[in-house]
Amino acid sequence: MELEEIKTTLKKASDLKVGSKKVYLESYGCAMNFSDSEIVASILAQEGYSTTNDANEADVVFLNTCSIRDKAEQTVRNRLQHFNSVKRKANPDMIVGVLGCMAERLKSDLLEEEKLVDIVAGPDAYRSLPDLIGEVETGQKAVNVLLSREETYGDISPVKLGENGVSSFISIMRGCDNMCSFCVVPFTRGRERSRDAQTIVEEARQLYAMGYREVTLLGQNVDSYRWNMTKKGEIKDPNLPSVTFAMLLEMVAEVSPELRIRFSTSHPKDMTDDVLYAIAKHKNICNYIHLPVQSGSSAMLERMNRGYTREWYMDRIAAINRIIPDCGISTDIISGFCEETEEEHQQTLSLISEVQFDFAYMYKYSERPKTLAERKFEDDVPEEVKSKRLAEIIALQREGSLIRNKRFVGKTCEVLVEGPSKKNKSEWYGRISENSVVIFPYTNQLPGQYINVKITGCTSATLKGELE
Ligand code: 5AD
Ligand code: SF4
Repeated sequence: MELEEIKTTLKKASDLKVGSKKVYLESYGCAMNFSDSEIVASILAQEGYSTTNDANEADVVFLNTCSIRDKAEQTVRNRLQHFNSVKRKANPDMIVGVLGCMAERLKSDLLEEEKLVDIVAGPDAYRSLPDLIGEVETGQKAVNVLLSREETYGDISPVKLGENGVSSFISIMRGCDNMCSFCVVPFTRGRERSRDAQTIVEEARQLYAMGYREVTLLGQNVDSYRWNMTKKGEIKDPNLPSVTFAMLLEMVAEVSPELRIRFSTSHPKDMTDDVLYAIAKHKNICNYIHLPVQSGSSAMLERMNRGYTREWYMDRIAAINRIIPDCGISTDIISGFCEETEEEHQQTLSLISEVQFDFAYMYKYSERPKTLAERKFEDDVPEEVKSKRLAEIIALQREGSLIRNKRFVGKTCEVLVEGPSKKNKSEWYGRISENSVVIFPYTNQLPGQYINVKITGCTSATLKGELE
């Protein structure tokens, strides 16, 4: 495909001036939701919609929602109240829709009892949005929360909604088959399915041609990505190429040495050494792995149905450190899951000390309806104990992040420039391969450029540097 042709296939939201109808999209929760909003924008662009950043001028408002913790759902409910009052006072024809994970869970509450929304569409129903809008225009409420075993939106070129024009997401698979006992995702997003590898590589090519210099491959469990292969590794159609995640990484890395590749999320039970060797082999596959551990106690991991022990997790960390020396490693941790004892909590703290993560997302357990944990265990750790344990985890992790960041001080690192720093416009920021953010003084660099920065200092959150 010629460059010009590629540039017209994938459009930036700001370039879309088709028709006069406007859609305002807000995303909550994970990167997957953000990426899904780009798919929604693309589907609606074909119907003559442009995107707007101003909800007041929107014909349609969509909230792409997350159910992973109760707090995320409460935030969305508050936003819905807000849009309802905008609708009543200023814009009675505005259509308000809930997309994503809350759709399936709360469809009847949202549509009937609370009368907050006109459209409810689940994560596999975005192609039907134009029809659903049509139904609402004839005075009805519209719902489609059917989950699919096949939908990957593989053929859709997403409209880019991100602002920096440097870094973008590519969704490589949807759903999850893991059934971690605390997690609602398998219920809201359905069965795991992988997207055609060729369409992924093509999207990466298009993004590179548009000027993007970093792509993050997204899936709930990227290590179980398989195209044209069964879970056991048997080839489905001998006439087609079959692709594992390690192979996919290499295919995307070959798009250009100037395109950085990241991915999320890895699963400790499925992460194989061939993925690590692929990272080690290609300079442009970033030396960074997000490997959620959730707990440092094997008994707890069993209750969480994670499919590995503490020892297994530590073996995976040892493999990362052996194959990719100095690799950035981050994790997710849950405090106060069902029946968590003080001893189990201490094991989480000791694992944090032992691994030394660069970064961690840390959460208090929030019971979710329908999950295995809700059915099998009691959410019996008192709120104040959950909070106290979480505070201990956060404090220890902050010390660990500082120790890890210090390893870069005095070194020169390659930074992909992203743009002006939010705090001080005379400073700019970018990331190193290991994913740490670097702040440096602005001279004449541009977003998307690679520059060498000498690291002169750090906090637990960021690196400070000077241009070489
Ligand atoms: N409560 C708290 N945290 C949760 N996560 C998933 N489900 C829950 C829950 N019910 C966290 C896990 C997961 C991350 C995306 O969110 O740590 O890795
Ligand atoms: Fe949820 Fe576990 Fe699947 Fe992650 S791997 S989405 S935590 S069920």
